[in-house]
Amino acid sequence: MSHYPALRLRRTRSTPWSRRLHAETVLTPADLIWPLFIAEGQGIEEPIATLPGVSRWSIDGIVARAKEARDAGIPCIALFPNTPPHLRSDDGREALNPDNLMCRATRALKDAVPEIGVLTDVALDPYTAHGHDGLVDAAGYVVNDTTAEMLVGQALNQAAAGADIIAPSDMMDGRIGQIRDALEGEGRVNVQIMSYAAKYASGFYGPFRDAVGSRGLLKGDKKTYQMDSANAEEALREVALDLAEGADSVMVKPGLPYLDIILRVKTEFQVPVFAYQVSGEYAMIEAAVAAGVAERDPVVLETLIAFKRAGCSGVLTYHALHAARLLGA
Ligand code: PBG
Repeated sequence: MSHYPALRLRRTRSTPWSRRLHAETVLTPADLIWPLFIAEGQGIEEPIATLPGVSRWSIDGIVARAKEARDAGIPCIALFPNTPPHLRSDDGREALNPDNLMCRATRALKDAVPEIGVLTDVALDPYTAHGHDGLVDAAGYVVNDTTAEMLVGQALNQAAAGADIIAPSDMMDGRIGQIRDALEGEGRVNVQIMSYAAKYASGFYGPFRDAVGSRGLLKGDKKTYQMDSANAEEALREVALDLAEGADSVMVKPGLPYLDIILRVKTEFQVPVFAYQVSGEYAMIEAAVAAGVAERDPVVLETLIAFKRAGCSGVLTYHALHAARLLGA
């Protein structure tokens, strides 16, 4: 009598067709949101040194990128402006300007590529002279309630320009409810709110701050408003509050170091959860590829399926177009 394992788990893995048949999770272009950085001007492409392969584009270029995204099956893009320095101020009032870069880009996109969703980031850091997401008092503390009032104005401004998803990334307390009330008050009942509910004070945001021009400006850090990476229970409290205040979906950010948070949020609340695979994560993959440590395509797809496996409805990633093309529309 020969001895054999009672169950051979390798059996279903033995051929490509069988691996496909038994896949528990699928990744498609429809799972991806592509973040894009906007530059002032016309015909402009500005490569970002710390995000190799990613550029800021003037609005004409943003429209062209959105068409590529649509054609690759990506349902939504996320916009971030690099506000010209002379328009940055201590109170970030450019965020309220109906003709700011973000609003002009949103209108151009809704006009030229209405099939794709536009997600706009709500926070003051691309507009403030000190690089913080909110208003700063004399002691350098980011004040909550007056910041939230500004954020409401910013969100209404973006919604008026045609934003489909308002995504507050500022981590002020109470702002989701105030933004929801204000949107309802203006009859914008179908504007979604995707709350950056569990956003951690992270060392992985550096290249993004280069892209929006806030790295050199930022005074201190963001630890009085963004979460401590030691905490998970607190993330569940943040999510519970944002859902109660009217968020349609919630985000966990950064991505890979926080897969445990994604799983816990999904298990606890059964709501749409998104991950932001942030700039530093993208840059690490690209650095590994450049150093010959890893191959881009398998590593990109492996990280993205990990988010799906953990429970995500979708992922914001700078690799979105590349990944969507690998996956086929
Ligand atoms: C700021 C904001 C940040 C990111 C998105 N919105 C950076 C920060 O909080 O300093 C980071 C995204 C990334 O690193 O890719 N409101």
